[in-house]
Amino acid sequence: MYRVVKIERIKKETPSVKTFFFRDKSSPMPGQFYMLWLPGVDEFPMSISYIGEIKGFTVKKVGAGTSRMHSMHEGDKLWLRGPYGHGFSPMNGKILFVGGGSGMATLAPIIERLPGDLLIAARSRDELLFMDRFKERKIYVATDDGSLGFKGFAHELLEKILEDTKYDAIYTCGPELMLRKVIDIASSHGIEIQASLERLMKCGIGICDSCSINGYRVCVDGPVFGSHELAEMDELGRYRRDRAGRKVPI
Ligand SMILES: Cc1cc2nc3c(=O)[nH]c(=O)nc-3n(C[C@H](O)[C@H](O)[C@H](O)COP(=O)(O)OP(=O)(O)OC[C@H]3O[C@@H](n4cnc5c(N)ncnc54)[C@H](O)[C@@H]3O)c2cc1C
Ligand code: FES
Repeated sequence: MYRVVKIERIKKETPSVKTFFFRDKSSPMPGQFYMLWLPGVDEFPMSISYIGEIKGFTVKKVGAGTSRMHSMHEGDKLWLRGPYGHGFSPMNGKILFVGGGSGMATLAPIIERLPGDLLIAARSRDELLFMDRFKERKIYVATDDGSLGFKGFAHELLEKILEDTKYDAIYTCGPELMLRKVIDIASSHGIEIQASLERLMKCGIGICDSCSINGYRVCVDGPVFGSHELAEMDELGRYRRDRAGRKVPI
């Protein structure tokens, strides 16, 4: 069930993020993910960040698996299965995309398909992802250290934006604490929202329960959830599950 693909090109996006381009016959939808296996190292979920004949994974270096990936070269091989999960679906009206850190990788394919403004957030200006890719759009920028744009977190800038601009729908992906705030703000303004969640995943196909949150399995019921389901998720931004499946406060 694994397919072997060759890395055709590697692009350094930020000091901690690289995009790996490859060819594969699958036809993913924006927001879907693959399970990526590096034999002898790890298997982990990765959203599709470029869709087309040439596809891409945009990977932030965080631990053993993603570090190994960052040490790979053009011509090296990846083992993958998928695409899996429910991706984004179209929403109507004026749209805002809110991406924090590597969350922009997951959002990029749906941004390419729908008009709308962007709020891109990162720790510092060097880590802002895909500013060039979407330079034709209106982009609000937030950096934790104030090195570019608004100094502060994505949700703080979102609150300011909503003081004088009306949006009907928000698509978001990023760190879980950011998602929690963005979801709460959208709900208090009556804005429809779809959020892509990141949870620890082992099987990716609904068997192991390692990705469960409030009774939902993120791998098969998500990773993209809508306003209704998100409203039920009181674990989001409060608890995660460790590798043994235990609930741990975030
Ligand atoms: C559906 C989905 C799509 C994803 N898409 C992308 C993407 O497009 N680009 C990208 O850079 N990352 C993405 N991730 C996150 C990525 O899977 C993790 O960063 C990766 O599994 C870490 O593996 P590792 O072996 O390098 O780190 P590990 O050594 O396994 O862990 C290092 C640290 O990262 C944390 N971590 C591990 N797995 C996850 C996870 N799934 N979510 C959040 N934290 C985790 C661990 O708790 C630990 O603190 C996605 C995750 C999911 C669930
Ligand atoms: S990762 Fe196994 S059930 Fe979701």
